[in-house]
Amino acid sequence: MARKSNLPLLLVSYLLGPALVRSCSPLPLVINTWPFKNATEAAWRTLASGGSPLDAVESGCALCEKEQCDGTVGFGGSPDEFGETTLDAMIMDGTTMDVGAVGALRRIKSAIGVARKVLEYTTHTLLVGESATKFAESMGFITEDLSTDASRALHSDWLARNCQPNYWRDVIPDASKYCGPYKPKPHSILKQEDPTYKEKDHCGHDTIGMVVIHKTGHTAAGTSTNGIKFKIPGRVGDSPLPGSGAYADDTAGAAAATGDGDVLMRFLPSYQAVEYMRQGEDPTIACRKVILRIQKYFPNFFGAVICANVTGNYALGLSFPSLTFCVTISAFQSISRSTTAGSH
Ligand SMILES: *[C@@H]1O[C@H](CO)[C@@H](O)[C@H](O)[C@H]1NC(C)=O
Ligand SMILES: *[C@@H]1O[C@H](CO)[C@@H](O)[C@H](O)[C@H]1NC(C)=O
Repeated sequence: MARKSNLPLLLVSYLLGPALVRSCSPLPLVINTWPFKNATEAAWRTLASGGSPLDAVESGCALCEKEQCDGTVGFGGSPDEFGETTLDAMIMDGTTMDVGAVGALRRIKSAIGVARKVLEYTTHTLLVGESATKFAESMGFITEDLSTDASRALHSDWLARNCQPNYWRDVIPDASKYCGPYKPKPHSILKQEDPTYKEKDHCGHDTIGMVVIHKTGHTAAGTSTNGIKFKIPGRVGDSPLPGSGAYADDTAGAAAATGDGDVLMRFLPSYQAVEYMRQGEDPTIACRKVILRIQKYFPNFFGAVICANVTGNYALGLSFPSLTFCVTISAFQSISRSTTAGSH
């Protein structure tokens, strides 16, 4: 039956348990990492007005880019070592397995929009850096400075703190005390050091990852982020990598990840979650198993995965139970009479 606008929806933004929780089943379903409700709602409205799952993911992530969700998506956030903000984004069609993505995109605000153009107008999957900017311009996007007073202030504070924190290790001068430029430490004195950057701010948001399941069961997923603060220029995280930042496959489900991208991307967590669901695991277990696999190697990594199967059940898996109090997901879902909306 034609459901109108956004009325029959359930908006749940909850604090979920360690490896998660819940679900009612009805489709369509829109979920995204973090309490970025406006993004969830934008995606929902797109579906309600007849848009495809891909359109919904694009409009949801685009809204976050515009609202600069928590400074971690879109322009004006996460300056790199040179003070520049660059963007990563990806969009995936779980029906056709088409993907478009951009990494380290410069001077273009709408990363998810450019990713969509990569999907639609090329047979490539991922474009990066200055060349991705040229591609975007050819698609009609305008170039603008992505810096803001806020990002300039973040960067100058960082310089004033001797470039702390940063992501270098085993270099001279000692990266835990000084700014670069750095050179490799001679082998004679080489010992594995941890990078100076210990991510303490686990409640800090990063990256929107979104999953949409259409009422027909068609799936799409996507991400958008400005990466991590004070990254080494050129660093691209997990977000624009299919299978890592997000993955969708109509025959199994869809997933998206958030957290320490440099670790996450080594495990293709979104792909892995979808594969677990394909093997019959429910979303809760799929999410949890993905986190456990990573924790075997990186017990202290920070991350979360959202998993949804094609019948609209979904879950959130977290690397630490303590994250329960800060990691949330935002979800819109049709309410069916048989479910107990709000009891989760
Ligand atoms: C969400 O949208 C409302 C209405 O447009 C706006 O007032 C609010 O600031 C937005 N929230 C965020 C976090 O940007
Ligand atoms: C989705 O997960 C729910 C909860 O585990 C399960 O009952 C349902 O059968 C799953 N759907 C599919 C298509 O596997």
